Amino acid sequence: MSVTEDTETIRTLFRQQHGFLMSKIMFTACELGVFDLLLESGEPLSSGAIAERLGTSPSGTERLLEACVSLKLLRMERKDSEGLYGNTNLANLCLAKSSPKSQYHYLKFQSEVIYPGLQFLTDIVREGKGPFKTTHGMLQKSFFEASCSSEEKLQRFSDAMDDAWSLYGREVMSAFNLSHFSLIYDLGGGSGALAKECISLYPNSTITVFDLHKVVERAKKHSMSSNKMRITFKEGDFFKDPVPEADLYILARTLHDWQDEKCLQLLTKLHQVCRPGGGVLVIEMLLNEDRCGPFEAHLHSILMLVLTEGKERTPSEYKALYTAAGFKEVQHKKGSRYSIILGRKQ
Ligand SMILES: C[S@@+](CC[C@H](N)C(=O)[O-])C[C@H]1O[C@@H](n2cnc3c(N)ncnc32)[C@H](O)[C@@H]1O
Repeated sequence: MSVTEDTETIRTLFRQQHGFLMSKIMFTACELGVFDLLLESGEPLSSGAIAERLGTSPSGTERLLEACVSLKLLRMERKDSEGLYGNTNLANLCLAKSSPKSQYHYLKFQSEVIYPGLQFLTDIVREGKGPFKTTHGMLQKSFFEASCSSEEKLQRFSDAMDDAWSLYGREVMSAFNLSHFSLIYDLGGGSGALAKECISLYPNSTITVFDLHKVVERAKKHSMSSNKMRITFKEGDFFKDPVPEADLYILARTLHDWQDEKCLQLLTKLHQVCRPGGGVLVIEMLLNEDRCGPFEAHLHSILMLVLTEGKERTPSEYKALYTAAGFKEVQHKKGSRYSIILGRKQ
């Protein structure tokens, strides 16, 4: 290997081994409110002023701000030999809480749930069994039971899930023309964030968000009265309870939580109740057919291993599940982050 190849290889090693450190720097700055403060202030601030306004230590704050500049989360300009810090576009768009496209809540969930959970990855890979149930000391509890175990945890999970749809909701809901599906169920639809995108795109549709008791109870409390005519909520367990007849069922980031057998059980049930000509719309991050990439889908498959019993799949794997459940015509479209698969019942 040449010196240049060696240098590049070693650089790759360092970049990757420090990934966790980069995440933690970003999480910490979010948690302390650095990006919110700089967005609100409207002008660059010195490290001392930031520390004072946040009530943090001057030395720790300066170190954190410098690291954020190196990660391109902040920019720094010198004025009279003093460093003044401001948000980059990325921070204004995605890290400040008040931005309409903020990913703050997803980062908070990553920091508080995923980051600590990943310390068990070696054991989980070694044991190859239901991780959340055993490793987290929450025997008998699935990830969803644990997420619903307090109002605070439920809010954290729900807000985290919703963040993605402020960026990709419109794209995934418009990938196929769904205007001829008037009665829609969003199964595992959480707070109804995707349902809102759906009714804004398709004026003739009504949508029912079907989810677990606690999730629906909370979603009803927070749903906007202007949407009440077209978005309703129904509590139930999609494995155990009957799912009503509809034209279209949406399963967004839901099948990836479950093993193949459970996915097939659910899809078969939906095929039975789906109206003729109706369908099932699956929204998931997909692995390439050769299972080499994309990088993000592999990371999410690891998350599914740590948190759930599911995994990310290739387009063919999803198509095989649809076909086994009885759906004939299955099409898939690639979005910028999530792919969209529509299977139709004849
Ligand atoms: C990963 S979240 C996805 C939420 C939403 N579809 C989204 O993409 O933002 C999975 C959802 O499935 C719900 N869920 C899990 N098990 C369920 C079950 N047995 N019956 C109904 N909903 C369930 C969870 O409460 C959660 O809201």
